Amino acid sequence: MVVIAALAVLVGGLVAVLIPWLPESASEEMDRIVFTYWFATIICIGIFALVAAVIVYAVWTFRVQPDDDTDGPPIHGHTGLEIAWTVVPAILVIAIGVVSAVVLSQNADAGPDPLKVRVFAQQFAWRFVYENDVRSNELVLPVDRGVEFTMVSADVIHSLWIPEMGQKQDVVPGITTEIVITPTRTGRFTLICTELCGLGHSTMRAPVRVLTQANFATWLEQRAQAEPGTGEDEGEGEGKGEGGGTGGSVQELGATTFAQAGCGGCHAFAKAGTDAQIGPALDDLTAAANEAGIPVPEFVRSSIVDPDAVIAPDYQPGVMPKDFAQSLSPEELDALVAYLSGEASE
Ligand code: CUA
Repeated sequence: MVVIAALAVLVGGLVAVLIPWLPESASEEMDRIVFTYWFATIICIGIFALVAAVIVYAVWTFRVQPDDDTDGPPIHGHTGLEIAWTVVPAILVIAIGVVSAVVLSQNADAGPDPLKVRVFAQQFAWRFVYENDVRSNELVLPVDRGVEFTMVSADVIHSLWIPEMGQKQDVVPGITTEIVITPTRTGRFTLICTELCGLGHSTMRAPVRVLTQANFATWLEQRAQAEPGTGEDEGEGEGKGEGGGTGGSVQELGATTFAQAGCGGCHAFAKAGTDAQIGPALDDLTAAANEAGIPVPEFVRSSIVDPDAVIAPDYQPGVMPKDFAQSLSPEELDALVAYLSGEASE
């Protein structure tokens, strides 16, 4: 029986260790989650070994012999055994519960001086707002500092998850949810929406970059000084981004805004190279504007700010988020209108 149990421990242990079930941890919270995982897994391997050993031993030792037609000895309960198999699992389950509760409470604690980041989720894009109204569609974080996210959704339920950071939290329309992440190593990761939220759910991702605290401070300062909405995604090179955030024409800002606000997730627009069909195509808005009896730019603006004012034939009201007037800066909104209206040729 001991040999069988040892074999079961070996098999269970190899399955647990050799297969990379979890990504390499990149946050304090993930470290604790990994600890909880191993705590429960080791208990499970022990129980698996015990059960496997008793079953295999019993099946082999007490198997019926040929020509044995007897009923076998009558057996009544075994009080000691029953107490043991009630008390031991109870203790183990309580232990797992206590460890999980402690980890949950520690993982909700951002420490004395957390960085605060507001998260806006919508079909199908993420947007992050830092202090001084610094906006970004890339999540940039400092290493070794607690980050407190407060999250709101413009439309349906989304869920924020960076696999290497462990923490996961739903973003629910109508309420503000919170989550804490403390990155422990620099690098690039991917934030994934992990709640089925519509046709573009699988594309609802955002790049994550963890920087040293000094580099993060520089990044935040540069972004705070840059014109709102410019200089996005210039930081590919190490150290200083060369773009400098100047010289972006209205059309460029419009194109950037179109991409960042997630317009292409729903609308076909040849200039931006998108072909989604959740909302009406945006390539020729003249007819629709004429129908509404207003100039094209005015029509475009009112359609962004108040999407249900005019609904294109064959489309439903209430699908497009109504908060672009708040989530976009005035400069971004102007540029987006110009970009979509086709005015101010390049
Ligand atoms: Cu947002 Cu899935």
